Amino acid sequence: MRVATFLAAAGSMLLFMPLAHAQRVPEAPPSPEQFDAGADLFRHICSHCHGPRMVNPGNGSFDLRKFPHDDRARFFNSVRNGKNSMPPWKDVLHPDEIEAVWAYIRTGGVSPEQPPLTVCLQANDPPLSFRGGENPGGFDLALSRIIAERLGRTLQVQWFVSRDDPDSNLTRDAKALLSDGRCELLAEFPLTAGSLEPPHSPAAKLPPFDGAKPDDRNRWVPIGELAATDPYRLDTLTVILSTRHADRPIGRLSDLNGMRVGVQIATLADAIAMQYGDGKLIEHVVHLPDSRDLFEKLCNGDLDAAFVDTRAYDAWTSRHGSDGLAPSGYTHSLGFNMGFVALASHRPLVNQVDAVLSDLKAHDAIAPLAANSGLSFIPPRSPAVLADIHPAELGGD
Ligand code: HEC
Repeated sequence: MRVATFLAAAGSMLLFMPLAHAQRVPEAPPSPEQFDAGADLFRHICSHCHGPRMVNPGNGSFDLRKFPHDDRARFFNSVRNGKNSMPPWKDVLHPDEIEAVWAYIRTGGVSPEQPPLTVCLQANDPPLSFRGGENPGGFDLALSRIIAERLGRTLQVQWFVSRDDPDSNLTRDAKALLSDGRCELLAEFPLTAGSLEPPHSPAAKLPPFDGAKPDDRNRWVPIGELAATDPYRLDTLTVILSTRHADRPIGRLSDLNGMRVGVQIATLADAIAMQYGDGKLIEHVVHLPDSRDLFEKLCNGDLDAAFVDTRAYDAWTSRHGSDGLAPSGYTHSLGFNMGFVALASHRPLVNQVDAVLSDLKAHDAIAPLAANSGLSFIPPRSPAVLADIHPAELGGD
């Protein structure tokens, strides 16, 4: 056995030595059977030290997700002969079995049978998602990566831009992108009864997306119904003060009385500011086209306060820092739970994502992702899907 093993090892060493020195050539994808056998062996033998699904448990064992996928020679050498505190495996595993484990590791644990998970993300919406040239990032990208990893699939992002104009809205864009097969999931979707209603019209146009051809711009896509995952965060409105007013306690919007309060035109904050307490704030409200103008004017003292989307503040601070601004800690009672959406016909995928989300929530793993991306995190609220908003609700805090 030992001799045979040695010879087999020598054979494969001789065969692959020149490759290791010359350019390392990527191997053909493994067969699904070989991959499955490797995944099984990994679970039973290697995961004790290297962690389930190669997620390093932080015990000094090598993080196998980072093992070079093209360094077959090093893998076989370390696994056969052991390395430092890792025992040798050549007397435990048959060469075919080591080959199978290698198939599992060099594919990053992604089964060759599984196509990549495609997720639509907004290309320019920091801190949630941004394509940013070579360096894409944001909270929703990080969350999508984890979900793909947990489903044993690679992540493929379809970037798109949801325009803020009357001809376009995220609900219609989502239905068009998903129905056209551009992605299976779309992130950061507000879970409201209205946005999840069956389509009112049979077709919609696609928003601008990466890789679009000229005729995609005017193409009508027959659209289907959406199904939402459980929510993963709450989107809310807050009040940001200029530092001159940093000490002013804001428990309710009426505490803004007498201050110059900026809102972004045609946003929910704008509607609330106009209706609040039967118009109590109207004469103090300044309407500006862009949330960035609000923060600029707060910084230079032209405004005393801004009533805004919390994430607009996050987007500003991620670029400009928080100098000149003082968060009040106020949160409006209206908030939108955010989740992923898929086509209703992809219910099984929605269920899989829900299982991952509930595991992440159980381990408090979502807040740190948000913190890493500079996003203020508020956990979702019950009920998961917000009923239609009554105009009367816009009058309160
Ligand atoms: C008893 C714990 C333990 C088990 C079980 C174990 N390993 Fe390891 N492994 C380690 C440790 C510790 C290291 C880091 C060794 C070092 O570099 O000091 C390591 C390193 C490695 C490396 C990197 C070696 C290199 O070249 O840097 C590979 C590859 C590897 N293990 C594969 C496996 C495979 C495949 C299995 C299952 C057949 C396995 N290990 C089972 C503890 C273990």
